[in-house]
Amino acid sequence: MKIFLDTANLDEIRKGADWGIVDGVTTNPSLIAKEGRPIEEQVARICDIIDGDISAEVIATEAKDMIPEGLKLAKIHKNIVVKLPLTRDGIKACCALSKDGIRINVTLCFQPAQAMLAAKAGAYIISPFVGRIDDMGMPGIDLIEQIVTIYNNYGYKTQVLAASLRTPNHVIESALLGAHIGTMPFKTLDMLFNHPLTDKGLEQFLKDHNKAFQNG
Ligand code: E4P
Repeated sequence: MKIFLDTANLDEIRKGADWGIVDGVTTNPSLIAKEGRPIEEQVARICDIIDGDISAEVIATEAKDMIPEGLKLAKIHKNIVVKLPLTRDGIKACCALSKDGIRINVTLCFQPAQAMLAAKAGAYIISPFVGRIDDMGMPGIDLIEQIVTIYNNYGYKTQVLAASLRTPNHVIESALLGAHIGTMPFKTLDMLFNHPLTDKGLEQFLKDHNKAFQNG
């Protein structure tokens, strides 16, 4: 499973890039707003750090405006994937832009029928939001299983990007279910490293080494 960072913060993206395990970045209007720079500028900076898919979301809500805005975003860098919301207009714009060769990430997906529409519209990526469904008291991870099953049944090429992953378990479950990509905040990525037995084991290895070789 590819690992994407779900952030527009350059320090976090640099740290992830430094570890060498970040395949791409997803942003959304809320994440861009936190950084205080216009989207074109901020995603261009992200493209300079990570050589992988970088999602940039349109603000327009009508297809007639989403299409030119998507074309403009796509021109920023060859790695830009244009993000469109899963609305009627979003799907209409997805059909038009995908036919033009623009790669589309359809976002805000909360049920499997929506994911079918995105696949039929030629989306490059579908983004089901696991954590936000959990927030409603339902198991968000079930949505990943349903979409992967439906896409496999019909050989849809659209990649499943498990989004809104808040815990290591969300990441593990998404990978077990065959999601192509998982996107997560820096905090979740950082948590993936942790295991007390790794720390304990390393401490013991170093103790044994030092006892044997540094005592005289
Ligand atoms: C996906 O691309 C979204 O930006 C994201 O995963 C939303 O996550 P949140 O529910 O933690 O805001």
